[in-house]
Amino acid sequence: MAAQSNSSAPVANGSESEVHALSDTNMLRVVKAGESILKEEITKHFDIESLSASTKSIRIVDVGCSYGATTVQAVHNIMDAIKSKYKSQEILEDQVPEFEVFFNDLESNDFNAVFKFLPPNRDYFAAALPGSFYNPILPKQSLHVVHSSNSLNWLSEVPKAVTDSSSPAYNKGKIHCTNARKEVTEAYAAQYAKDLDMFFSARAQDVAVGGLLALLVPSVPEMHLVTETFTCTDFSIFESCLLDMVGAGLISEEQVDSFNLGFYFSCPKELKEIIEKNGKFSIKTMAKLEGLGANTVLIEKRALILRAGLEGIFKRHFGTDELVNEIFERYSKKVLSSPLHLKPETQKMIITFILLKRNP
Ligand SMILES: C[S@@+](CC[C@H](N)C(=O)[O-])C[C@H]1O[C@@H](n2cnc3c(N)ncnc32)[C@H](O)[C@@H]1O
Repeated sequence: MAAQSNSSAPVANGSESEVHALSDTNMLRVVKAGESILKEEITKHFDIESLSASTKSIRIVDVGCSYGATTVQAVHNIMDAIKSKYKSQEILEDQVPEFEVFFNDLESNDFNAVFKFLPPNRDYFAAALPGSFYNPILPKQSLHVVHSSNSLNWLSEVPKAVTDSSSPAYNKGKIHCTNARKEVTEAYAAQYAKDLDMFFSARAQDVAVGGLLALLVPSVPEMHLVTETFTCTDFSIFESCLLDMVGAGLISEEQVDSFNLGFYFSCPKELKEIIEKNGKFSIKTMAKLEGLGANTVLIEKRALILRAGLEGIFKRHFGTDELVNEIFERYSKKVLSSPLHLKPETQKMIITFILLKRNP
């Protein structure tokens, strides 16, 4: 699956700006939850001597930035942390290098929407950086800090085996690895490991030695807990809506069999193994941020948030706005009786915070 375009098609039951604002508020909670550990760890591990020696400006990128205010908040947090490091070493303000900030996402992202959140009196240079973060995104060794929140769970593509009817991992009648057979989960896990290996190898090219990666990765504490997360419960609700639509003759069985969502939620142990196997970065800190369930968006608004992220994916596969509207309308009704959504504090999704340093 290529990730979705941030479509400007009309959104049922909510204006486009309302949907964007809701989605952004939801994501901002993650960045806020990670703010103190991120600042603390960047201040601790940002190596002024080795990084400043080779550059006149400090380059920061937020990968998978999307189009809301969250990304601007995230890069401000990083700059605050770096500036306080310079201050703690009593380096005069006019000797602190200038900052260059890059906002990365897929080419289809609405980068102009990001620019509208930039403060007019900012003390940094800003630019968009379109392209997949699974490839190098800037010249060799030119980056100093890379940030990512809520985006490393997007696979580069749906694992091929799950839509291949001759494969043991064929995911017939299902749209994700949630509650799927072991072979399907293994195919998703293998795709994730391959993608993240690609991500770390790409960063090993564009990040300078000593440079930092600060990652906020949506995860589960243990692999089998994926069914107890909002997102995977949502995937199961969508699956049930699509099967109902097959029953009602609105779409074909084959359309469901060939459709799978390209997201994966790892557990910290899995993530650690992938990073260590890749070997290009050292783990400086790894922490679980919990308790992100309770204060969630109203259940009635849930469909609007999901629509912002998934609409393009459904549209590309099922083809018409009418079918996409039908899917989200059916979802809106079913989610109201979802036991997990009615008790948000019981959900198990966590955010894994990781700070990594580029090895020599
Ligand atoms: C859920 S949003 C997270 C946005 C933001 N980082 C935040 O925390 O609010 C995930 C973003 O990752 C982007 N994305 C997914 N795969 C990508 C890839 N291979 N390269 C760059 N961006 C990608 C999506 O387009 C989407 O905008």
